[in-house]
Amino acid sequence: MSRKKLIAANWKLNPSSREEAIDLIENIKIGLKNIDVEENINLTFCLPFIYLELIKNSLKDTPFKIGAQNCYFEEKGAFTGEISALMLKNLGIDYVILGHSERRSLFNESSEIINKKISVALKNNLLPILCVGETLKEKEMGITEEIILSQLEESLAYINCNGENVIIAYEPVWAIGTGKTCSSEDANTICKLIRSKLADLYNSSIAEKTLILYGGSVKSSTIKEQMKQTDIDGALVGGASLIADEFVQLVNNC
Ligand code: 13P
Repeated sequence: MSRKKLIAANWKLNPSSREEAIDLIENIKIGLKNIDVEENINLTFCLPFIYLELIKNSLKDTPFKIGAQNCYFEEKGAFTGEISALMLKNLGIDYVILGHSERRSLFNESSEIINKKISVALKNNLLPILCVGETLKEKEMGITEEIILSQLEESLAYINCNGENVIIAYEPVWAIGTGKTCSSEDANTICKLIRSKLADLYNSSIAEKTLILYGGSVKSSTIKEQMKQTDIDGALVGGASLIADEFVQLVNNC
């Protein structure tokens, strides 16, 4: 089964000004001009809320899509500081990252909360990128598989995945922003495990259709090997997506 690859850039809390954001996206656009990106892969930029509209305008003549990095699980009301899936949809946003390990660990988001967010994202026709991954401690304790399976099961409870409406990203926490990439083979083993869990939770045709990304210190120098793996369908890229030349090279190497 051939699944079209997806590269999702996660800018996290960067950059610090509109000018820098425009500069970055314009340089990426120039770099990608001569590559037939759309033919081979889909590309999405997951941005701080404040830049969504700005960058959406910059990308209006391109096939590239826009994503948010979070949303709240209520659609409206007295929830100071939150942004709803409905607001994102009304802005024309396509993707939303949910359950990123930084949200789980720094903002105490449980799989139960993430589950509610996935549900409201789907209701608003956003494509959630659900992140799962083990910490270094969990890896050292030998419970990686257990952690991944329970994060999947809890985050996807009562969610009707059809193979196209939810994307999964395997991001081992110890490999995020550390320069330590999980070996492509090990990453593939976990992506395979995720696919077999999806087959259990839904069915094998849905599992085969679902995009499963790898994230954690992905660079232009690692992507080729990662993309060769049977069950890795793309990447969620943090640091390397903030350097235009490096990101262009990374996409080129896909
Ligand atoms: P880095 O690519 O900087 O390790 O970040 C990975 C990540 O968390 C993407 O969501």
